[in-house]
Parts: sequence; C-alpha cells; structure tokens
Amino acid sequence: MMTYHNILIAVKNEILTITVNRPDKLNALNRKTIEEIGNAVKDAAADPSIAGIIITGSGSKAFVAGADISEFADFNTDQGKELSAHGHRVFNSIEQCGKPVIAAVNGFALGGGCELAMCCHIRIASDHAKFGQPEVKLGVIPGYGGTQRLAQLIGKGRAFEFLMTAGMIDAQKALHFGLVNDVTSPEQLLARCEELIGKIKTQSPKAVAGVIRCVNANYADGVDGFQKEMDEFGQCFLTDDFKEGTSAFIEKRAAAFKR
Ligand code: COA
Repeated sequence: MMTYHNILIAVKNEILTITVNRPDKLNALNRKTIEEIGNAVKDAAADPSIAGIIITGSGSKAFVAGADISEFADFNTDQGKELSAHGHRVFNSIEQCGKPVIAAVNGFALGGGCELAMCCHIRIASDHAKFGQPEVKLGVIPGYGGTQRLAQLIGKGRAFEFLMTAGMIDAQKALHFGLVNDVTSPEQLLARCEELIGKIKTQSPKAVAGVIRCVNANYADGVDGFQKEMDEFGQCFLTDDFKEGTSAFIEKRAAAFKR
C-alpha cells in the first residue's frame, strides 16, 4: 500500500475511507493532497476487494476549507492554469470512478472543498456542515470544476448567487438546494455513508459502473447521453452480472455478483 502524508486511508467492510488530514489548516487542499486523493481513488478503483469509497475530513470543524491559499498566493498565469488543470484531472477521475464515491461532509466545505464534494457521486452532510465558494473574495474564480458542477447540481440561478456573493449556506439549505442528498448528525455521518455503499455493493458492479458512465455522459462535451445509454444497455447483455442477476430473479434468490 502506498504511503501518504496528507491523507489517512482505512478499509472496513470493503469500503475505503479517505480522510483529508491537515487539521491545523482545516484540511486545505495543497497540490500534494490532491495528488494523494487521486492516487488513493485510482488504487481503490482497480482493487477488486473495494466496493466503494468515502471521502471525509479530519476533525470536526472542516471537511476541506478550500484550496491551500498560501500555496498559490504568488502564482503567475501559467502556474494558476496548471494548478487548475491538475485539480480538474484528479476531480474528473473521481467523478468517473467506476465505484461509488461518497463525500461525508463533516464541516466547512469551501472553495476546493465544495468542489471536491461535488465531484463525488453522492454527498451526505453532517448537520453543522457549511458550504460556500468564496473565491471571488480572493479575486479568483473556482478552479476545480465549481462553476460547472455547482450549476449542474443546484441550477444556474442559485449557482450564480452562490458564486457571486461568496456566501455560505448551511446543511439544511444545501439539502433544500439538492447540493447534498441527506443530512445526519456528526455521529451518524460515516455510518450513513457506509449504509449507502452497503446497499450499492449488493447490486451488479458492472451495471453500477455503467450508470456512472451514462449519467456523466450527460455533462460531457460532444457526447449524446441517450446514445451512450443505448450502447451501454446493449453491453450489459454480454456480462456475467446480467446472467447472474436475471437467473437469481427467476430462481427467487439473492444475486451473488463478483467484482
Ligand atoms: N488555505 C490555507 N490555509 C487555510 C485555509 C485555506 N483555504 N483555510 C483555513 N486555513 C488555515 C488558516 O490560515 C489557519 O492557519 P494558521 O492557524 O496557521 O493561521 C487555520 O487554517 C485555521 O483557520 P482559521 O481561519 O483560523 O479558522 P476560523 O475558524 O477562524 O475560520 C474559515 C474558518 C473556514 C471561515 C476560514 O479559515 C476561511 O475563511 N478559510 C478560507 C476559506 C476560503 O477562502 N476557501 C477558498 C480558497 S480558494
């Protein structure tokens, strides 16, 4: 297993939990941390013993309080663009991961933290979590997909308000906006995420991966998501998962899928 410096990783019940671990900086994302998250997700995606991934933050105050401002404070145009491209590569790879990735938002999810949560497939928030894209306060714009994914998740008008005011919303408002799927107590947060992955892992892994590809296709440039669904639907009929799923139904037993 790879050694990490800014994240903690733990496996329980076939679930990899990645904890961003820079609590004295409210888990702010420097380049190294983003790289480590990307590597951990990539390894988990390729590991048949892993059913899904949870991403959370260390401590009770922050999920991730943004990109590490001290790292880019004296960047020039090229360095800024490259930093953004690096974040995009990693966050896209999380979004495209063929296994469920759930953000367990345990506190501030600001800037790059909100963007990290948004590239996950599902977001569950603890009741004291706060969300915001405060970049315009700093004279920048979101650089890790925030201008795109926020509008996809909560709609254009709300996204404009959120992005232009640099304001923060609480977990209940995030739930109302559809930014998060559910809100729990801090104590129940990880259990709720584990429960969700527990439900997903009894389904066909190949079909779950197909769903992820098709839903993402709706947001990809130049891709016809409906055509993609037809193609992916056809491909399902080649899989052992399809044989197992349909046989199990006919034989009135639970399906036993292999990863
Ligand atoms: N980048 C770098 N360091 C950060 C950070 C970030 N995004 N967010 C917090 N930190 C650091 C602080 O500098 C401070 O470090 P220090 O103790 O060495 O001075 C430490 O984390 C604790 O933060 P602090 O501001 O003292 O906590 P707070 O409870 O008073 O405020 C926030 C919490 C989240 C409101 C505040 O930290 C904040 O506004 N952070 C920046 C959020 C942001 O703009 N994110 C988008 C970046 S593009």
